Amino acid sequence: MRKLFCTLLLSAATTTFFAQTKTEKFVDNLLAKMTLEEKIGQLNQYNGDWGATGKITPDGDKESQIKQGKVGSMLNVTGVDKTRKLQELAMQSRLHIPLLFGQDVIHGFRTTFPIPLGETASWDLALIEKSAHVAATEAAAYGIHWTFAPMVDVARDPRWGRVMEGAGEDTYLGSKVAIARVKGFQGNGLGNVDAVMACAKHFAAYGAAVGGRDYNSVDMSLRQLNETYLPPFKAAVDAGAATLMNSFNDINGVPATGNRYILREKLKKEWGFKGFVVSDWGSIGEMIPHGFAKDGYDAALKAITAGSDMDMESRCYRDHLKQLVADGKVPVALIDDAVKRILLKKYELGLFDDPYRFCNEERQKAQENNIENRKFAREVGAKSIVLLKNDAVKGQPLLPLSAENKTIALIGPFMKATIANHGFWSIAFPDDSTRIVSQYDGIAHRSNGQSSIVYAKGCNVNDSDRSGFAEAIEAAQKADVVVMSLGEAHDMSGEAKSRSSIRIPGVQEELLKAICATGKPVVLLVNAGRPLVFEWASDNVPAILYTWWLGTEAGNSIADVLFGDYNPSGKLPMSFPRTEGQIPIYYNHYNTGRPAKDDADKLYVSAYIDLDNSPKYAFGYGLSYTHFDISNLRLSSDKMAVRGGKIGVTVDVKNTGNYDGEEVVQLYIRDLVGSVVRPVKELKGFKKIFLKKGEATSVSFQLTPDDLKFYNNEVQLVNEAGEYNVFVGNSSQASLAGHFSLVN
Ligand code: NOJ
Repeated sequence: MRKLFCTLLLSAATTTFFAQTKTEKFVDNLLAKMTLEEKIGQLNQYNGDWGATGKITPDGDKESQIKQGKVGSMLNVTGVDKTRKLQELAMQSRLHIPLLFGQDVIHGFRTTFPIPLGETASWDLALIEKSAHVAATEAAAYGIHWTFAPMVDVARDPRWGRVMEGAGEDTYLGSKVAIARVKGFQGNGLGNVDAVMACAKHFAAYGAAVGGRDYNSVDMSLRQLNETYLPPFKAAVDAGAATLMNSFNDINGVPATGNRYILREKLKKEWGFKGFVVSDWGSIGEMIPHGFAKDGYDAALKAITAGSDMDMESRCYRDHLKQLVADGKVPVALIDDAVKRILLKKYELGLFDDPYRFCNEERQKAQENNIENRKFAREVGAKSIVLLKNDAVKGQPLLPLSAENKTIALIGPFMKATIANHGFWSIAFPDDSTRIVSQYDGIAHRSNGQSSIVYAKGCNVNDSDRSGFAEAIEAAQKADVVVMSLGEAHDMSGEAKSRSSIRIPGVQEELLKAICATGKPVVLLVNAGRPLVFEWASDNVPAILYTWWLGTEAGNSIADVLFGDYNPSGKLPMSFPRTEGQIPIYYNHYNTGRPAKDDADKLYVSAYIDLDNSPKYAFGYGLSYTHFDISNLRLSSDKMAVRGGKIGVTVDVKNTGNYDGEEVVQLYIRDLVGSVVRPVKELKGFKKIFLKKGEATSVSFQLTPDDLKFYNNEVQLVNEAGEYNVFVGNSSQASLAGHFSLVN
């Protein structure tokens, strides 16, 4: 504690010695006027009237606490009238310190976009940045200052329901997407009325919960933590993320909320993070059931000491910090540091100039139903869809749907659904179904005049009612082609939505089999927030589109892809297992001492005797209506110097099919021998390109020693001279290879 106290004093002295910025001067002056109670007030965040994702602590009259300066921030208060009302109360407090309004703006706000995992499948960073910016613009117009996003947890276990909120299994892709989302939310910088503070969460390693069970423990080496799980957070911090949120889990026995190693040592010291850390919902108090804190007093002590600055909903700071100071357990300097971080952000947002600057009714009105944003959501939706399979039927790939289909049958419980297209975490207007384009409407509208439509729901998402089967079979029999929309309900993935079986629930697959038995060609749309297991469908249905949950414009985005107005280009951000028995499954695993050479090789090698090792669909995989040939890999040199070296990697890409289209060209490396074993492949670059049919181009990447660094057994980030393979292709199964050496 004494060491921490000295560090804090030293950093305060350093700031005073060197020229203070105008902001710091303002904040220091304000801090000097604050009583201890007022300081502690800034560290409290209370929930509004809705949106609880945990126990709400009953505490009487929030409004009078706001007036007394006992609350620093509110979450889940939406709309300028409501935020204005509470801000007016805060303005009645002695020092008139404005409130911060935070909310989970995870994939859009008025206009919803594909769930983050789905949007990541676009591998289009500019698109992802723009969608975050649109969400920020809409949320800010509704009085929000701060989104609890992006979720940057690397996740390799699809049983974990929260995979839908992140960027999937890969550290490199996840870091790039984290940067794009932070930049998108924070736009041209805090202080602009279309920018909200980003919050990289959940710090840290939440995605590695044992067994994929939400809130569960995490046990991993520090090397793994640093190499795989922390880099997206570091990328978000370097991109300027204003805040981070604790995760619920413990890491190697120490809850993240009370974890000095990740909060003080890594985040605040090593990475120089200047923003603040908010706890997750009640996570300070949850250190008691974890068995890490004796009571609220102990929990507050451990959280503030570790570096958690703001208490979301547990009230441990409110109830115990004052006593902890009086008892000499918590130095005021520690509280000052946390308060200062929060006040700095309020200042940067411009709230001290005008606490109501995000309370503008006209701006709110303009974002109620912004047509440009909806058009953009339609584009993002189409670009997030992944074509998993497109077999020929009567000599032609089934997709895109041809004009020769006189009758199309639309079948399945998702066809006419509206809210389901939102997916989980569309919490601002959860029941507003009026603006959502259903899949039925999107497809029927697009096919207008070209084909006639027959419809049958067939079954519900998750029960055993087969009474609609006969009608669905009859509809299929009348049609030339069937489009079936199946999947998991939108509240089956997300927080607290872990599943032990990740199959398409209820009797939906049974319905699919019955429809396939009619002999009509079937296109399957899979609605889901995670990779699902659907082996029978993969083996028997000719065309499959993975549509995630696409948001407000879902129906139009799906129609665009079905009819070929947009040629699908999505690539999977997670490996899709054949069955749950393969989980966790990820492409960048180690080789082991007894690698299987292929799926048939099972004798005394690292394999299952009853299951293949390979995924059903690999990370980075996704088809197009056209075909891209990737060839002629060449390196600018076969040696890279550790100091200042670089190597150019170039391939030729040709669109050899019948449609214009986009391809994601992916570069992977393999470090052949290291002081610790290295993954069989690691993504180190990707480029999304557009080629007209028949067109060719070359695509180049540059590798530097930084791309080859890894954490050694002493948890130091190092380069080691040695041999490397490089692969380029259009999935993690890329086999076009080159070779180079890293030399000292
Ligand atoms: C709990 C979730 O874990 C977190 O992601 C979310 O931001 C908070 N609840 C607030 O809703």
